[in-house]
Amino acid sequence: MKPSRSVMFRMLVGLILGVSSWCPWAADSRQWTSLEKDGIHDQENPALQVMQPPADALRLLPPDSAGNQVNWVKALRDGYIKPRTNLYETTEVRVLDSNILMKRTAELPYVLFPHRAHTEWLDCSNCHEKLFRSKTGSTPMNMFAILQGEYCGQCHGAVAFPLTECTRCHSVPRNSAGASQPVSK
Ligand code: HEC
Ligand code: HEC
Ligand code: HEC
Repeated sequence: MKPSRSVMFRMLVGLILGVSSWCPWAADSRQWTSLEKDGIHDQENPALQVMQPPADALRLLPPDSAGNQVNWVKALRDGYIKPRTNLYETTEVRVLDSNILMKRTAELPYVLFPHRAHTEWLDCSNCHEKLFRSKTGSTPMNMFAILQGEYCGQCHGAVAFPLTECTRCHSVPRNSAGASQPVSK
C-alpha cells in the first residue's frame, strides 16, 4: 500500500524537525538539571509546565566546562544569541576595547580584565563608579571580598562564570610578555 498524503506530510515534518534539532557539538555530554529539580523554581506554579527545559535551550549553544556549561562570550560573538541591548532607541551602546592588567595577585598569575567582553553585554553604569572607579588601580579589591560577592563577585558566580575558574581571571603568567603591560598599582 502506498503511504497516504498525510503520512508523507508527517514524515516530511519529522525530517525537518529532526534536522533542525541536530546538535553541532559533537559528543556533547552536557547535562542540565530540570526546572522541577533545580531547587529554585516554585513547583506549585502552573507556569512551570510552559517553560522551556534548560537542556533544550542550552544544548544548542557553544559548550563550556563550568557554570551553566555555555560559553556566553562565544555565543554572543558568533551570533548564536542576539540579546536586546536597549529598551529605548536613544540608548547608546558603548563597547570599550581596553584591557586592564591587575597585579595584586600574590603568587598567582596576574588578572586580565577585558572591557570588551563586558561592555558587549553591560553598560558602563553597571560597574562605574559604584563597583569600580574609572582609574586603574584605585579600587581596593581583594580575593576575599570577591568571594564574599563584592567587586567581580557581584556577577561571577551569580550570572557569569563561577569563581572556581581561577585561571580565567588569573590568566597572565608572571614573567610572561603580557605581564609588562600597564599596571594596577
Ligand atoms: C564589568 C564591569 C565594568 C564595565 C561594564 C565597565 N568597566 Fe571600566 N573598569 C572596570 C574595572 C574593574 C576597572 C579597573 C578599576 C581599578 O583598577 O581600580 C575599570 C577601569 C576603567 C577606566 C580606567 C582605566 C582605563 O582603561 O583608562 C576607564 C576610563 C573605564 N573603566 C571606562 C569605562 C567605560 C567608558 C565603560 C563603558 C563603555 C566601562 N568602563 C565599563 C570595570 C568595568
Ligand atoms: C572573576 C575573576 C576572578 C576569579 C575567577 C578569581 N580571582 Fe583571584 N583575584 C581577582 C582580582 C580582580 C584580584 C585583585 C587583583 C588586583 O587588585 O590587582 C584577585 C586577587 C587574588 C589573590 C591575591 C590576594 C588577595 O587576597 O587578594 C589571590 C591569592 C587570588 N586572587 C586567588 C584566587 C583563586 C585561588 C581563585 C580560584 C579559586 C581566584 N583567585 C579566582 C579576580 C579573580
Ligand atoms: C556587572 C557584572 C560583572 C562584573 C562586576 C564582572 N564581570 Fe566579568 N563577565 C561578566 C559577564 C556577563 C561575562 C560574560 C559571560 C561569561 O563569560 O560567563 C563576563 C566575562 C568575563 C571574562 C571572560 C572573557 C572571555 O573572553 O571569555 C573574564 C576574564 C572576566 N569576566 C573577568 C572579570 C573580572 C576580573 C572582574 C572584576 C575586576 C569582572 N569580570 C567583573 C559580568 C561581570
